[in-house]
Amino acid sequence: MLFFKKKKAEVRAAVVLPEHIAIIMDGNGRWAKKRNLPRSSGHTAGAANFKTITRYAASIGVKYLTMYAFSTENWKRPQDEIGALMKLFQQYLREALDDFLEENIKVRFIGDVSVFPKELKKLIREVEEVSENRTGMVLNLAMNYGGRKEILRAFENIREDLQENKIQEVTEETVAEYLYTNGQPDPDLIIRPSGEQRLSNFLLWQSAYSEFVYFDILWPDFTPENLMQAIDIYSSRQRRFGGI
Ligand code: IPE
Ligand code: IPE
Ligand code: MG
Repeated sequence: MLFFKKKKAEVRAAVVLPEHIAIIMDGNGRWAKKRNLPRSSGHTAGAANFKTITRYAASIGVKYLTMYAFSTENWKRPQDEIGALMKLFQQYLREALDDFLEENIKVRFIGDVSVFPKELKKLIREVEEVSENRTGMVLNLAMNYGGRKEILRAFENIREDLQENKIQEVTEETVAEYLYTNGQPDPDLIIRPSGEQRLSNFLLWQSAYSEFVYFDILWPDFTPENLMQAIDIYSSRQRRFGGI
């Protein structure tokens, strides 16, 4: 049996590295509950893991990484949980000012960040500015992000630009250009830990042909090895894009 396994590993096709990986960082609450801790402890653990996985993705050569941190629907949560999340965002963005310098990571934000508290918005601007000219992995942080809102915003801006004659026609490429991810390739691989098998309003337009891999592991427990596992699964998939 062992021999068979070994042989199988030897003949396994080479790993195909996705250019763009997107991760739905889910399961923090359940991770905390399992340990009889408040949900906010789960978010603290999840945020620490965000750094680990981001660094690892950059180290293996991923070009684009999109991390879903807060959805447009997450405002439905109790005030104390939202408060804890805002504090964590504040802390991590402050650290991000020099955190990802060594890895040469360029940080961008996708979502409507205009609603966040003033200090957070200032940090968001600073993090984008300080990393603007970096040439390594692009990290998209999805904060107050919702796929439907993103598409709606694109339609509104397209309508305006049509009226002002800035554009004459609307193609699929036009729509893509008006999304937050303008200029970036669509995600090749979307990973969701925590056991849920849904998109929860994540990258609705961009995910048309993404490969989806889910894990029965809660986000704070998700390891670099799990990321490699997901890449292995991705490598074994045959993408047809509607062809044969
Ligand atoms: C994901 O973990 C983090 C955010 C949505 C901000 P959850 O908080 O959704 O964790 P579960 O799904 O309740 O376990
Ligand atoms: C999706 O997780 C959003 C983030 C991970 C940021 P949710 O926990 O909000 O999704 P649902 O409610 O289970 O669909
Ligand atoms: Mg959840």
